[in-house]
Amino acid sequence: MIVALNNKCNLTKSEYKRYIEELNKINCTSKLVLCPTFLNLSSELVTPKFQLGAQNVSINDKGAFTGEIAASQLKSYNVEYCLVGHSERRIYQKETNEEISLKVERLLKQNITPILCVGESKEERDNSKVRFVLRQEIETATKKLTQSQRDRLIIAYEPIWSIGTGIIPENEEIKEAFQYIKEILPNTKVLYGGSANEKNIDTLKEVSIIDGFLLGGLSLKPKELNIFLEKLEN
Ligand code: PGA
Repeated sequence: MIVALNNKCNLTKSEYKRYIEELNKINCTSKLVLCPTFLNLSSELVTPKFQLGAQNVSINDKGAFTGEIAASQLKSYNVEYCLVGHSERRIYQKETNEEISLKVERLLKQNITPILCVGESKEERDNSKVRFVLRQEIETATKKLTQSQRDRLIIAYEPIWSIGTGIIPENEEIKEAFQYIKEILPNTKVLYGGSANEKNIDTLKEVSIIDGFLLGGLSLKPKELNIFLEKLEN
């Protein structure tokens, strides 16, 4: 199982230091991908059981792009994964599928695994547009890739209405979305994200098609995260 931890815009320097001390105590067999803010990306504090992920990357290679961070720079900080197209960036930064496609290309060129986030809004689900949204988000982001590049992607299925709300889809709904994603990208690992926590993991892990999880809120609570991982793995 892959468990990616999306810290979002949280943790000051000193808070992160304490957080990492707690996180380093966790013992698990899952592959943990820690995605802190850019400022906390230095690998010095984390033990080798974590792999580093970023939360975003520039569409540009390098140069005069103030405030941007390029894939080659991430690579130089030992970053091995990067979230792309998280719904919060699609909504607040108005990130488009075209930009997301460029980001995916930049990352693959640097041998960084993109974790492409996809998922429908509540309105889209109510209007039976889940498949349409998933296909559009995946196809536009991967259209320029070769088959072997596509196989290197990870998809995170995150229904927008589930992120940070405490509401999770029915297992059958998750299964349907995963099956559809795997029809489009048969060799790709798919994670579930959206309010996954130590209380609902027993239910979520019944969906055997899930290859792992992308955790937001829970990533900030090492004790609860530890319970989540214990339940996931036993
Ligand atoms: P959540 O966030 O676990 O807090 O719902 C998940 C995500 O946004 O990746």
